[in-house]
Amino acid sequence: MTQTRCEPPYRLALCPRAEADRAAELPGDVRARFSARELAELEALPPRRRRDRIAGRLAAKRALAAHAEAEWGWRPRDEELEIANDGEGRPFLRARLGDPPAPSFSISHCPAGAAAAAACGGRRVGLDAEVVVARPAEVLAFVCARGEAEGARADPEAQARLWTGKEAALKLLGLGLSADARAVRVEGGRARYDGEPGRAWRALGAPEVRVDFTREQDAMLAVAYTEMT
Ligand SMILES: CC(C)(COP(=O)(O)OP(=O)(O)OC[C@H]1O[C@@H](n2cnc3c(N)ncnc32)[C@H](O)[C@@H]1OP(=O)(O)O)[C@@H](O)C(=O)NCCC(=O)NCCS
Repeated sequence: MTQTRCEPPYRLALCPRAEADRAAELPGDVRARFSARELAELEALPPRRRRDRIAGRLAAKRALAAHAEAEWGWRPRDEELEIANDGEGRPFLRARLGDPPAPSFSISHCPAGAAAAAACGGRRVGLDAEVVVARPAEVLAFVCARGEAEGARADPEAQARLWTGKEAALKLLGLGLSADARAVRVEGGRARYDGEPGRAWRALGAPEVRVDFTREQDAMLAVAYTEMT
């Protein structure tokens, strides 16, 4: 499995499970990739949360460094790519890296590892990764409108596409726990929003949002991204 894919409209990077497990102990070469402030925040987390956050950060630094190299012609050091979360949990880059604004980026972790995407060309991006497993109907009912999960009932991969597509599309809007996933439909590779997510989408100028799905070993990855305006 390659760790970075440099293809616009976004750059996708992974931190596979084996790397995530090793990195969780923060060995010297991994520590060196974080700023002092990032390390202090990581060390304050409980072990499971710390492992996930480190894996997500490593994937994001990989995607952002590949973006900088391809778009700006220089590669920042990983510790310069200092990532934090705002009050709603959204990840952002703490330092300004130069004139061009930092790209929109998104992080997800799951038991298979972590993934991150950095958007090209001023787009917005949202990413979700989930292990492909059979989900009980009541779990799907929590995120699906009536009848929406019918076709996916006996198909764990279709269930994973339903789930990750909605979550990636919500993350693109910067919406978190309060958002109603039933108000997002992904059909034919495009996301459609109603209700509160619809209002957030219209506030962004109602951009076209596309959703790509990729299978990475045990995991389904969904990447939502805006079309160029
Ligand atoms: C915030 C949320 C999107 C995170 O999803 P998750 O599956 O628990 O976790 P993931 O590993 O996929 O994503 C976590 C990352 O999302 C990012 N994130 C958190 N809040 C976010 C927000 N409001 N907008 C965009 N990204 C956000 C963070 O980078 C976080 O990782 P970090 O804390 O290590 O930096 C999710 O918990 C949520 O609130 N979803 C609302 C919609 C819903 O009900 N979805 C159910 C399935 S459709």
